[in-house]
Amino acid sequence: MPGSVALVATTTLSMHARALHSLVVKKVVMAITGLLLIGFLLMHMFGNLKVFIGPEAYNHYAEWLKQDILYPILPHGWFIWIFRAVIAVSLVLHIYCATKLWQASLRGRGAHDNKKYTKVRRPQQTIAAKVMRWGGLTLLLLLIFHILMFTTQTITFGNFKAGATPYDMFTASFEHWYVWAIYVLFMAAVSLHVRHGFYSAFTTLGANVGPQARVFLNGLAYFAAALIFVGFMLPPTAVLFGLGVS
Ligand code: HEM
Repeated sequence: MPGSVALVATTTLSMHARALHSLVVKKVVMAITGLLLIGFLLMHMFGNLKVFIGPEAYNHYAEWLKQDILYPILPHGWFIWIFRAVIAVSLVLHIYCATKLWQASLRGRGAHDNKKYTKVRRPQQTIAAKVMRWGGLTLLLLLIFHILMFTTQTITFGNFKAGATPYDMFTASFEHWYVWAIYVLFMAAVSLHVRHGFYSAFTTLGANVGPQARVFLNGLAYFAAALIFVGFMLPPTAVLFGLGVS
C-alpha cells in the first residue's frame, strides 16, 4: 500500500523535523543565556577589581550596585532586583536546556547497543562535552556555596560580624588559604566552561563560517577564559599574600 507507506514516512519525517527544531531552539537559548551570563561575569570581575583602589571605592561600588543604578528613573534599590531576576531566569533556562539536551543525547546513545559503535559514532562523548556537563554541575554547586558565603552570609570565614562592609567581608574571607583554594577550583570550572561555551555559542549563532573564523573564535574563547580566571583571582590572591590589599 504505497499511500500508507508515504503517510508513515511523512509523519516520521515531520516528527524528526519537530524534534530537531526543538533541539536547535534549546541550543539557541543556551547560547543567548550563556553569553548574557558571561556579560554578568565580566561586570562582576571589573567590580571586584575595585578592591585594589581601596575600601571606600569598593564599598561605594557595592552600594551603587544595590541602590543607585538607573536612579531616579527607577526608585532606589529596584534595579538590583530586575538584574537578579534576569540572571536567575538566564541561569534556570540555561540549565534546563542543558539537561534536556543531555537527556536527548543519552536517549540517542541508548538506541545503539554496541558500545564500540557508540564510541565511534557519538560526537557528544568528546572530552569537551564531559567537561561541559560534569564541569557545569561542579560550577553550579560552587556557585551555591558562593552565594551562601557572600550574599546570604550563611557560611562565613574570618572575623567579620553581621553588617560588616563588603570590603571587610572580602578581605577577611580570603586571608584563609583554603577559601582561596576553593575559589581557584571555582574559577577553573568557570573558565573551562567559558572556553568551550563561548566558542559553542557563537557556532550555534552562525559565526563559525570557515577555518579563519574558527581560529578567531577559538582565540577569542581562550582569551575570555584566561581574562576571567586572572581577573577574578587577582584580588583574592592579593589579599592572601598581602599584596596591596589588606
Ligand atoms: C574570585 C571570584 C569571585 C569573588 C571574589 C566574588 C565575590 C563576590 C562578592 C563579594 C559578592 C557579594 C557582593 C555584595 O553583595 O556586596 C558576590 C556576589 C555574587 N557573585 Fe561573586 N565572586 C566571584 C566569582 C563569581 C562567579 C564566577 C560567579 C558566577 C558564576 C559569581 C556570581 C555571583 C552572584 C550571582 C552574586 C550575587 C549578586 C547579588 O547579590 O545579586 N561570582 N560575589
